[in-house]
Amino acid sequence: MDAHEKGFFTEENSVEVVTGRNKNARDERLKQVMEVITRKLHEAVKEIEPTQDEWMQAILFLTRTGQLCTDWRQEFILLSDVLGVSMLVDAINNRKPNGASESTVLGPFHIADAPELPMGANICLDSKGEDMAIHGRILDTEGKPVAGAVLDVWQANDEGFYDVQQKGIQPDFNLRGVFRTGVDGRYWFRAVKPKFYPIPDDGTVGQLLHALGRHPYRPAHLHFILKADGFETLTTHIFDPDDPYINSDAVFGVKESLLAEFKRVQDPVRSKELDFAGPFWDVEYDFVLAPCG
Ligand code: BEZ
Ligand code: FE
Repeated sequence: MDAHEKGFFTEENSVEVVTGRNKNARDERLKQVMEVITRKLHEAVKEIEPTQDEWMQAILFLTRTGQLCTDWRQEFILLSDVLGVSMLVDAINNRKPNGASESTVLGPFHIADAPELPMGANICLDSKGEDMAIHGRILDTEGKPVAGAVLDVWQANDEGFYDVQQKGIQPDFNLRGVFRTGVDGRYWFRAVKPKFYPIPDDGTVGQLLHALGRHPYRPAHLHFILKADGFETLTTHIFDPDDPYINSDAVFGVKESLLAEFKRVQDPVRSKELDFAGPFWDVEYDFVLAPCG
């Protein structure tokens, strides 16, 4: 019997006995991860002192969470989102130099093959919603324009749904597009003002939020993935600061630097130039890319 196999399990020595059993793990990182998880998990169980029924409720919650996962739905990622773990992993993996734009969660509604469009294109394909023009620059941390940057954008419509949630109702690729900057680093496109929406809340995560007295809403936002040679890829959003849920995002994705100003423009000449029928929303936002590390 090896030294690590000595000692029977007790409430007091539970961590040492379990982690000791992993002494010959083939992967050092796995061993380290399991040591931390075992220690923290046993600490939580000792503090909570669950009844057998409570423990079984937790097991059934996780079982149902797994059963809800399909190619289209990842209830465990949603769980990670509402626990703040997705944002924490994002923060740890995206520490940026001063002045660079901040990242936030990707979310489940990105699709890889949205069409590349000319600058100025209107990504709203069904003319529903309040017109909006979005423009700005893609810069490096020295303020120089980034040429050839690829900006992949997607957003919910004015009722808070993505095209992939309303197949047959919204046109395919509605409110999505890919744009490429020229030498001036500028981008612009037209869309409609997005609206707040609930994260999928008809599963275990929705039940948990409800039981915790939490709402499932995300404040109105546009998603972006920005890619350019020599720069770190940036996955982020811009948010409407006047949204009713701006201070209580269900997935903790809001950062102060990602609040953009949504200005109402009542100028018939500008509306005509943009081919809008009336007043519109104007959003200006510059992105700053961090150099590859
Ligand atoms: C989203 O913004 O698309 C999103 C993010 C996390 C969970 C659900 C949706
Ligand atoms: Fe979203």
